[in-house]
Amino acid sequence: MAIGIIYESAEWSNLYLRDYLVNKGFEVLFINFEEAALNAAQFSNVDLIVNRIFPSSYFRGHTKTYFKGIDFLNELNRRGIPMINSNEALMYDFDKQLVCNTLRKNNINTPKIYCCSSEFSIDNIKYPCVVKPNRGGRSSYTHKVNNAQELSEVLKLLPKVEFIFQEYIESLDNYTLRIEVIDGEVFSAVKRSMDETGISSYHRGAQYKHVHNLDKHITDMVIDTLNILNIKMGGIDVIVGKKGPFIIDVNATSNFSKKFVDFLGRNPLDRMGDVIINEYYKLCQVAG
Ligand SMILES: Nc1ncnc2c1ncn2[C@@H]1O[C@H](COP(=O)(O)OP(=O)(O)O)[C@@H](O)[C@H]1O
Ligand SMILES: [Mg+2]
Repeated sequence: MAIGIIYESAEWSNLYLRDYLVNKGFEVLFINFEEAALNAAQFSNVDLIVNRIFPSSYFRGHTKTYFKGIDFLNELNRRGIPMINSNEALMYDFDKQLVCNTLRKNNINTPKIYCCSSEFSIDNIKYPCVVKPNRGGRSSYTHKVNNAQELSEVLKLLPKVEFIFQEYIESLDNYTLRIEVIDGEVFSAVKRSMDETGISSYHRGAQYKHVHNLDKHITDMVIDTLNILNIKMGGIDVIVGKKGPFIIDVNATSNFSKKFVDFLGRNPLDRMGDVIINEYYKLCQVAG
């Protein structure tokens, strides 16, 4: 009986998680979705799937994952194989629009979505706005757009996938908050600087600062957010604007570089590994 990690990018975080579980004595099937020829029957001796496929797969050339990954994981779900994060979490991880709409319905502040590319309406767009892929990551093809002229330039650059056109939240201090929530608790909170184009991203060389006392209101907001979306562990981007904090992005497959973990001084992947192990034991108990 085994834990199956399905990934598509052999990054430090995924290898670390595999080694963590192996070192704790678990049999781990470490499966590269992009390369392996898979069928759901091969998972007959897997008790728990750990989903580590990133929504940014398309922009890294991993088109098999981008187009087929969700269907495959849904098929495993139909066969009754439990997954962490949940199958529902996977849907949210791949659909920023769905996240915003769901959170809004639950009275959590998220930026307004003016339109998306499949229902494009230039008249609905107000400035400044953000243009970003609905299924994205790593701030690929993400732009702050200040006026109609800039928008027409940006539109020429976009690949033919779904984009959203969203209210731009001006940060009061030029930082975005990045908060990791694991098993109902805030594990870490950092501030990430913005670049001169108004975007904040590790992949664009952002600077980090520790946040030691996270505001209670923001703490409650991010914990509620993951509960609403049925995400057991995830990373949330928050921008504090003049109308208060807004949830900008929710990642159900948080990625960490070694450099970032060294900066944090504690490793979220160890904590995530323990949550996976707990989940595994819970399933074993249920199965008797
Ligand atoms: N509505 C928004 N208002 C202000 N900045 C935004 C907004 N949406 C995205 N950004 C900026 O763009 C970055 C990347 O967008 P995000 O939604 O986090 O996508 P991802 O991290 O999946 O690429 C964010 O960290 C933030 O700096
Ligand atoms: Mg983000």
